[in-house]
Amino acid sequence: MNFSTRDMDGARPIGVFDSGIGGLTVLREITRAMPSEDTIYLGDTARVPYGSKSKETVERYALEDARFLIRRGVKMVVVACNTASAFALEKLRLELKVPVIGVIEPGARAAARITRSKKVGVIGTEGTIKSNAYSSAIKAINPEIAAFAKACPLFVPLVEEGWLRDDVTREIASRYLEGFKKLEIDTLVLGCTHYPLLKETIAKALGTGVVLIDSASATAEEVKRTLAQAKLLNASGEEGEHRFFVTDSPERFIAVGRRFFGETLDYAELIELI
Ligand code: DGL
Repeated sequence: MNFSTRDMDGARPIGVFDSGIGGLTVLREITRAMPSEDTIYLGDTARVPYGSKSKETVERYALEDARFLIRRGVKMVVVACNTASAFALEKLRLELKVPVIGVIEPGARAAARITRSKKVGVIGTEGTIKSNAYSSAIKAINPEIAAFAKACPLFVPLVEEGWLRDDVTREIASRYLEGFKKLEIDTLVLGCTHYPLLKETIAKALGTGVVLIDSASATAEEVKRTLAQAKLLNASGEEGEHRFFVTDSPERFIAVGRRFFGETLDYAELIELI
């Protein structure tokens, strides 16, 4: 068969990495938006969490993750981890020769488009919130929007434990989110891979009138747009293949990851990054 270089490029997989399991929420949206794309997912389960680590450490980890995907021949790198997007996107874009998409810009754009009151809340890990990445991105789009940010570090372990609607989760959510009520936000960015699974609990804690922005679906749309512009979409029309790699405990990744991605996640290969 004769392939042009362009056809071959489009046939290459999309690379997605995260500190662990949570980025599967982003991968799920990518596979929904582009069912023909092959994907390679790397979860750095040996070094999770990134959310409590320094910028320097997260940058180093993110570069190692991305280089692994590049060695596997990906046509694009998607940084599914909010903390890695907040701290390392610039470095990755400087080093990599393929398009690099993070989750912050798409989420910020969606929030700026939706808010009417021009008061937006942002929740994420300590690292993401400390970086101010969402607030700066929202302000860069529209300086009239006020962004209020709050770190919610306990949400990640609660989601991994599967306690999505438990009393303890509801109690923690209302303590974290209480302050937003007084601020009268009308939009809240779920700035962490795990938070889409807590949508229902978070929405209840906030009361009515607040739109929740899921960065995962906004990112999938951005991936699709970028690939289409670069003429890199996979035009095979066949269902894509999805490969999973982890740096520790494939069994746990599969067991917990199914909640994020679905039952088709049945195998993950253990690798060493360096
Ligand atoms: N993936 C991380 C994020 O979205 C959450 C888990 C972690 O702290 O590594 O920020």
